[in-house]
Amino acid sequence: MNKLLEVRNLSLTFSDDDNPVLKNVNLEVKNGQKVGLVGESGSGKTTLGLSISRLLPSKSKILGGEIFFNDSNILKLSEKDFNNLRGNEISIIFQDPMNSLNPLMKIGNQVIEIITKNLKIDKKSAKNLVLSTFESIGLKDPEYVYNSYRHQISGGMCQRILISMAIICKPKFLIADEPTTALDVTIQKQIIEILNKLSKENNMSLLFISHDLAIINNISDYIYVIYKGVIVEHGKKENIMFKCKHPYTKQLINSIPKMENKGKKLSVSNRLEINNLDYKEYLCPFRSFCPNKIDYCYKQMPDELEIENEHYVRCFNY
Ligand SMILES: Nc1ncnc2c1ncn2[C@@H]1O[C@H](COP(=O)(O)OP(=O)(O)O)[C@@H](O)[C@H]1O
Ligand SMILES: [Mg+2]
Repeated sequence: MNKLLEVRNLSLTFSDDDNPVLKNVNLEVKNGQKVGLVGESGSGKTTLGLSISRLLPSKSKILGGEIFFNDSNILKLSEKDFNNLRGNEISIIFQDPMNSLNPLMKIGNQVIEIITKNLKIDKKSAKNLVLSTFESIGLKDPEYVYNSYRHQISGGMCQRILISMAIICKPKFLIADEPTTALDVTIQKQIIEILNKLSKENNMSLLFISHDLAIINNISDYIYVIYKGVIVEHGKKENIMFKCKHPYTKQLINSIPKMENKGKKLSVSNRLEINNLDYKEYLCPFRSFCPNKIDYCYKQMPDELEIENEHYVRCFNY
């Protein structure tokens, strides 16, 4: 598989102090590959997604690194060239579907706007394309949805519409940032199925972002684990799910609710918390919570080690 996206050594901050939100992040997505990015809230997942789609808030500052898409450096493209890429080749779906639609405009017209911006087709074919996309994405009455306003439809329908908008121009690469977090479990499953199907049919690469490793497991071929802005482990899905090495990844796996615990709340000890004090130094970000910490963890950042084919870990225990 050829490389489609490559993030190289990306470091980024929101403030002037020595407190980067992303620290030397490296990440790769190949053509047609489904990559999962997992880590708890505040670990930098959305920031990474926004960096790739160049939608970062203006007060963010890139301290170093590069992002290549199909061999062109995204961070260096002109606004015009990048706008061409975003929409046509790179698309993004956000967590909060309700707030991503314009309440004053009929849904159909919002989708048409995207199509006519990116494709050269007449109005009638555009409408047909919208209706057939709605249908393929599991919206039962496409014509009704087309003529509705946001307040007339459910959250699940809304997320399907946003997916339609994101994929209607057949992007090569889709970033889905917690696209199912606000939805109930049945609809979550359907959305995952749709994304899996789209990726397969259109050979679309996917970067699926979630704090939930169980969901990531259902959609990814390859998984990156991020903790406080540091990629601590990455590898082929099977390597991460069955042979993970990093103590943080182990915690994530142990906190997946087991079948018999379904419905029960996670115990407090299973809940993972962020400790902002640890951001300061470039040391292993997990050292204070780690059951296997050694002296070295307080002295420097471990290098990334390849422990087998398609499996890398950043930990002094190996
Ligand atoms: N616009 C912003 N201004 C200042 N800090 C921000 C901003 N967006 C995110 N951050 C900080 O960056 C860190 C990573 O946030 P985010 O990328 O949203 O994490 P995640 O998506 O993993 O929950 C957090 O500490 C958050 O407070
Ligand atoms: Mg986020």
